[in-house]
Amino acid sequence: MEIDFWAQRWKEGRIGFHEGKTNVFLGRHVERLGSPPRRVLVPLCGKTEDMAFLASRGHHVVGVEAVEDAVKAFFAEHELSPAVREVGEHIRAYSSERVTLFAGDVFACTQSIVGEVDALYDRAALVALSSDVRPRYVAHLRTLLAPRSKGLLVTFDYTSSSFDPPPYPVSEDEIRRLYAGASVTAIDEGPFDGPRFREAGVTATERCYAIEL
Ligand SMILES: C[S@@+](CC[C@H](N)C(=O)[O-])C[C@H]1O[C@@H](n2cnc3c(N)ncnc32)[C@H](O)[C@@H]1O
Repeated sequence: MEIDFWAQRWKEGRIGFHEGKTNVFLGRHVERLGSPPRRVLVPLCGKTEDMAFLASRGHHVVGVEAVEDAVKAFFAEHELSPAVREVGEHIRAYSSERVTLFAGDVFACTQSIVGEVDALYDRAALVALSSDVRPRYVAHLRTLLAPRSKGLLVTFDYTSSSFDPPPYPVSEDEIRRLYAGASVTAIDEGPFDGPRFREAGVTATERCYAIEL
């Protein structure tokens, strides 16, 4: 999925993926990320409230989001005035006390740009990417994360040939293949009642995995 596609969605306010509150599985399982302060990588972060929740729990959030307006919206909505600096070609870092968001393509964000990260929170990020991109995405995250990092991964799974992704359905088998060599445990799940799934008459399951690299 091209970044232009997402930029258009943000521009038109078609952001049904934005929950506007803490994700239920993050709320239940945040302790799995380890004791704060971790530096938690939140790839494809949008302006999710989950970042404010992680920061309120003492973590430092390291988000990456391609659409700069989403990054600006996060800080504006939390009445924060971030410091802004250029950190790479087409990448700007917005930093407040506990949240640093990189406005740029996740694939262009190297370890030297994002700094050390030792936990992962991926919600609606892996599933935003098509099957040909997902292996490269997970391999890239693994170049950024410290050894033995812990993570929470929140995905969607559904069966439908008519539903127009994203989000893409991602099965437990695929996650085990993508994170081969890491410990992957499905820890929670529930029906997901998003408007697009409802309109399409598709029953989707939102599933949460604990990952340890
Ligand atoms: C489905 S949304 C999920 C946002 C957030 N995780 C949430 O739960 O609300 C996917 C986000 O990834 C961003 N995105 C897509 N491709 C990206 C890329 N290559 N690098 C960084 N961000 C990207 C999009 O702009 C969009 O905000």
